[in-house]
Amino acid sequence: MIEIIKDVERCRVCGDDNWFEIFSFGKVPLANGFLDPAPHYEDEPTYPADVVVCRQCWLMSLRQVVDPEALFGHYVYVSSNSDQINQHMRRVADWCTQKLGLVPGDRVVEMGSNIGTQLALFKERGMRVTGVDPARNLAQVANDNGIETVAEFFGPEVSGPIARSHGEAKLVLGRQCFAHIDDVHNILKGVDAVLAPDGGLVIEVPYLLDLLNETQFDTIYHEHLSYYSLGTLSTLLKAHGFRLVDVERADVHGGSIVIFATRTTDSRQPAAAVAALLDLEQKHGLSTELPYRQFAERTRQVIDAVGSLIRDLSGKGKRIAAYGAPSKGTHLLIACGLTSREIEFCIDTTPLKHGKVLPGSHIPVLSPEQGRQTPPDYYLLLAWNYAEEIIRKERSFLEGGGRFIVPIPEPRVCAG
Ligand code: TYD
Ligand code: ZN
Repeated sequence: MIEIIKDVERCRVCGDDNWFEIFSFGKVPLANGFLDPAPHYEDEPTYPADVVVCRQCWLMSLRQVVDPEALFGHYVYVSSNSDQINQHMRRVADWCTQKLGLVPGDRVVEMGSNIGTQLALFKERGMRVTGVDPARNLAQVANDNGIETVAEFFGPEVSGPIARSHGEAKLVLGRQCFAHIDDVHNILKGVDAVLAPDGGLVIEVPYLLDLLNETQFDTIYHEHLSYYSLGTLSTLLKAHGFRLVDVERADVHGGSIVIFATRTTDSRQPAAAVAALLDLEQKHGLSTELPYRQFAERTRQVIDAVGSLIRDLSGKGKRIAAYGAPSKGTHLLIACGLTSREIEFCIDTTPLKHGKVLPGSHIPVLSPEQGRQTPPDYYLLLAWNYAEEIIRKERSFLEGGGRFIVPIPEPRVCAG
């Protein structure tokens, strides 16, 4: 078998090796490794996933790194066409435009640009846009839709030539991809190679404080290598000649932060929100071992509670299906030891996932229309980050006596 995984020896942010392990998920398949249905799945590869925290810069990360080409060369995650995400993307476009005073003609470069949905919003406003995304299948879709996209991993070897051929960027953007990156130093060198002297860097990552407080253990899987606090991001940016100027919390992907940074030489004054959030992190003890250890303990409890609840209902003859097939859902089912024995099927809006089975639990993925033909008694809401939107959309399922089980921060049943 090809070696696609390596153990990290040193913290990717500060280079120290003084870390402690808080939790091990054991050996699990890759969360996006959807399979074709088969009578048996004996050869499904699994990889260790151990969570560690650095005592020097307090980066929480996975101890293992899977070869990014294996994870991202062909990617099934397509930016969700959800109201919540669409609104958020508009807000990000407004925020960046206003922070940087972007005008038509300015260049925007986005790393991890997926099918180009975010860049299209800048293009609409007259900016010139370039995307960079390693997923060849997604870059193709973006290019077909008129969003110029380079199918490569972002770094100076890609962004340098963009700067030379297209001009420097007024904005470099990275939404929900920064936490996937192992060599973060190379990424920031890439930003340095393309960002105009008065330009801005905007990065969006799932927020560590929300992850810890809400026991979002299922968001920890091989694609997500790092779990950032603002403090750790600040340390990293400083090491590359950037500094934080503003930050906003956003209610997407379970709670995220969008940070705005400039070169250290820029004269913009940091907004009060930066110091306030750094303060809040100190109040929560993010520079101590305690909140990480408490999170690990709650994770064990939630895994037990979700597993017991579903097995109990299934034992009583209830029909249970899963709602959404996000990567974190795959991971949650495996952690809770749930399979097609308890969960009949899973519905998801992503056509690429239909007809496949979930990695590890081998639950078949159907379209929502197929699911509607035989509604279960309970839907386990794996896409819990869209709970409000989904529950609103599924009123008739609830009114017909159906129920949702929302697994985190602790399992609860929602009736109509
Ligand atoms: P998401 O939480 O965006 O990503 P991740 O894989 O990083 O955890 O994934 C949400 C999944 O839920 C995605 O596969 C689409 C699906 N989904 C539905 O099936 N129905 C819906 O109404 C919504 C909003 C999402
Ligand atoms: Zn560190």
